[in-house]
Amino acid sequence: MHIFIKKKYINEILEKTDILEVIQSKIEIKKTGKNYSAVCPFHQESKPSFTVYHHKQYFYCFGCKIHGNVIDFLMQYEKISFVESIQTLAKITGIKITQYKKKTTNQKEYINQINQYHVLKKISYIYHKNIQFNHSYLAKIYLKKRNINSKMINEFQIGYCHHKFCILNNILSNKKKYIPILEKEGLLKIKNNIPYDTLQYRIIFPIKNQFGKVIGFGGRSIYQYEPKYINSPTTTIFNKSHNVYGIDKIDKIKKPPYILIVEGYFDVISLTQYKIYNVVALLGTIITKYQISMLFKFTDQLIYCYDGDKAGKIAIWKTFKNILPYVNHQKSVKFIFLSPGEDPDSTIHSKGKNYFLKKIQYAKNILDCFIKIIFKKMHLYSISDKAKILHITIPLINKINDPYIKISLKQKLGNIIGITDEIRLNQIFYTKKKKNYTHNYKLNNIRILMSLIIQYPVLHLCIPYHMNELKKINIKGIKFFIEIFNICKKYNCNHTGQIIEIYRKKKNINIIKQLSCLKNMINKKNIKITFIQIIKKIYHTTLIKKYNKLIIKDRLKKINKTEKNILWLINKTIAKNK
Ligand code: UTP
Ligand code: MN
Repeated sequence: MHIFIKKKYINEILEKTDILEVIQSKIEIKKTGKNYSAVCPFHQESKPSFTVYHHKQYFYCFGCKIHGNVIDFLMQYEKISFVESIQTLAKITGIKITQYKKKTTNQKEYINQINQYHVLKKISYIYHKNIQFNHSYLAKIYLKKRNINSKMINEFQIGYCHHKFCILNNILSNKKKYIPILEKEGLLKIKNNIPYDTLQYRIIFPIKNQFGKVIGFGGRSIYQYEPKYINSPTTTIFNKSHNVYGIDKIDKIKKPPYILIVEGYFDVISLTQYKIYNVVALLGTIITKYQISMLFKFTDQLIYCYDGDKAGKIAIWKTFKNILPYVNHQKSVKFIFLSPGEDPDSTIHSKGKNYFLKKIQYAKNILDCFIKIIFKKMHLYSISDKAKILHITIPLINKINDPYIKISLKQKLGNIIGITDEIRLNQIFYTKKKKNYTHNYKLNNIRILMSLIIQYPVLHLCIPYHMNELKKINIKGIKFFIEIFNICKKYNCNHTGQIIEIYRKKKNINIIKQLSCLKNMINKKNIKITFIQIIKKIYHTTLIKKYNKLIIKDRLKKINKTEKNILWLINKTIAKNK
């Protein structure tokens, strides 16, 4: 038995919950015009850009672009899973979630996360146990060569996947049931009907969440196989840009004075072996806002270890861009730059603990690094290159929320480029911004229709006369519109949040989200009439097109009897609807 939450119940929960009430119970929110706004709880800001659309049951932050329905809000705010968020809401609305236990028939989509955690824990155990056997001697030799001791192997539950069927052979009962789950988790692939382990001949690092639950794996090839590492794919509980390796080992009781951020699994393990604690690794990504805000929950200081040779590359600007909005008088970020070609793992083994502790002690503040890099670049290049660097750095400085830090950096930059005059400096900093809300796509009739049904799902109650005819029309987007319309009908939707929920895991979710914020400039009073008129118009335009085509054909005397009949019918309809 697994817990599944059927869509219709989720819909029921959404119907009984008010996003405004939920958000209001967590943060301070004010009515501004039609909507409600607040200082965004997900990024650092001074002016409120977090907006709650009450009638849509939807939130959107114009600053950090975070958005979603009430389920998303709770997931992000409380850092809980999808199911946990629904369970919380079920409690608020008084719906008993235990009602929704269902068997694992064809509801793959709803493979419950609790079950997922259970499977991953079991597999992690299998891999780890495996490393102790004789057949894993190559893995043990490899780890020894990399100076990892057995205490660390146990502490991090390091494992090994030795050959084909490693996982399946170790799962004793109900192997078939596990295959789809293992496939989804990226641990098993099927070739010519035969399953094989994706991570074979790899050292396995279980990746855990902050509560110590296994959410994914990293596999390091012990041979020179490419890719060097294979990480778990994104699943409902794992996303490499939201998680970090080692978070489970962070001291949650005493607030650590800093958290060290490194690049790789071995860096975390080697530093821990040398009793340097509170280390986490990014899983092959540039640090993201999710990771920064998660880490800042545990500490006030992040120390980012850069491999020496990576520092000068573009990645550092992106890193600055993501980090700077979070820096203020309380939260600081420092950098350690290692020698080219070295990483924390190689450094700690070759130079020892004291050397590394010194590096930590003299880590450089991000703001100083930022200025230093700008300074270096400014002295190297021509005027147009300098302009380019300004073009990169000014938006970065503008991202800083702490006013003192922002002004100081602005002045420093001014000193570097030789413009100290306040007015001129402001001219450089505040050039006209491009309008932000232009959409990449044209606002055509179908898009307006889709945005209307998404923003006002109750429109499904009016059954436009030509709705049935629309199905036969072959224009881009019409099928999708009809699909949304029918979904609204089926689930009796009355706000946007419900539609977002239904499309959560579907490939079109981004279109739905874009359209849910689309400003279609239609007066609320005229929504229904516009909706019907557009449908009518689309129908008529296609009719007329068809009519014209047939007329041309008729002139060429190539029209048959049925076509003549159609022509006559169209003619009649057009005349009737004029
Ligand atoms: P590095 O290439 O710096 O490797 O990747 P490393 O950590 O020093 O690994 P070793 O010491 O050679 O074993 C840093 C991190 O980037 C991710 C992994 O998380 C790795 O630890 N990565 C790297 C991948 O996901 N895939 C790859 O193919 C390579
Ligand atoms: Mn390394």
